[in-house]
Amino acid sequence: MSKKWLSLISMVLAIGMVAVLAVGCGGPAKTDSTEIKIGGDFEITGGVANFGKSTVNGIQLAFKEVNAKGGILGKKIVLVLADNKSEPSEAANAITKLITQDKVVTVLGPVASSNVLAASQIAIDNKIPLLTATATASKVTVGDDGKVKDYIFRACFIDPFQGEVMANFAAKSLKVKTAAIYVDNASDYSKGLAQVFEEKFIKNGGQIVAREAFLAKDTDFKSALTKMKASNPDVIFIPAYYQEVGLIVKQARELGMNTPMIGTDGWDSPKVVEIAGAAALNNTFFSNHYSPEDKDPHVTSFVEAYKKEYGQVPDALAALGYDAALMLIDAIKRANSAEPAKIKDALAQTKNLQVSTGILTLDASHNPVKSAVVIELKDGKQTFKEKINP
Ligand code: PHE
Repeated sequence: MSKKWLSLISMVLAIGMVAVLAVGCGGPAKTDSTEIKIGGDFEITGGVANFGKSTVNGIQLAFKEVNAKGGILGKKIVLVLADNKSEPSEAANAITKLITQDKVVTVLGPVASSNVLAASQIAIDNKIPLLTATATASKVTVGDDGKVKDYIFRACFIDPFQGEVMANFAAKSLKVKTAAIYVDNASDYSKGLAQVFEEKFIKNGGQIVAREAFLAKDTDFKSALTKMKASNPDVIFIPAYYQEVGLIVKQARELGMNTPMIGTDGWDSPKVVEIAGAAALNNTFFSNHYSPEDKDPHVTSFVEAYKKEYGQVPDALAALGYDAALMLIDAIKRANSAEPAKIKDALAQTKNLQVSTGILTLDASHNPVKSAVVIELKDGKQTFKEKINP
């Protein structure tokens, strides 16, 4: 073949390649104009997969209900899911995919505070609102510099409140004087709660007699528990998630510790009972976002709708997922637009919105002011003990 032909062929090939590249990367994003796409960055697998599944169920129920009534702005609202495998680094990967590939206009999730913290900077950098239904650590919405994060919102109360609820419960309802704290050092949620609890328990005249730490995924807690036993606390505070909580309670009872144990929303899973066994859990209490036993008509209608859809009683995560979806739907309607910046502005203005767990108004820090409940585990059953208003 002549040189001339060769160079002509290579030129044609080069032009072809440039054209392919241009079509592949450059053109406008294909958006289906009949849909509003919402991202879901959730714990579908991994350590707290039970949390992710419940939250997604709650969201899907709210989306289904609004779509059945004609959708929003004449469009269907759809959830595009990405699994963060219950890990912070994967939560960052998942949100990047949702924003850059799926072109979602808002992200719901993740569940766990550490995962939200890992994902939120990416939402901020891309100017995409992130609304977590469940993450309670205070720094989720307010940075270390004290500034409110413009694009980050939540649908639940925060840990300074939840930690205080349990410190007061220990001091005033259980009437105990000394406490041990067992913290998960891999979790921003756990570390924040341990700090608040300690401060408020001492303020109530109590004393902290032991502090021990573990890391999520640990399975043997006996040496730390043995140390705690030696300091003979009246109560043990364990701000952690169900997998570790189940094992800790089980092993403590095996060591002959009958001490009451108290915790926070991370205890809310039937898995705790599966792992620890019903008997071991007697004399344990935890704070939560709602109780399905609450007779408020908004709670009962949500519980009925959820049972009809999924054949089970919704836990707090399902209720909060439903509430976050209602918040987002309300914001898009008020914004009269599905543009991320407008959704963000409307979310910040959320006021007097009736949701399943109460009436929701966001404060200036993008946090709702909501009540908490204290649950007692009795023979493996969650029983409603107290409701505490902020
Ligand atoms: N509050 C937990 C966190 O911030 C998540 C959670 C919410 C777990 C509700 C259970 C129930 O990590």
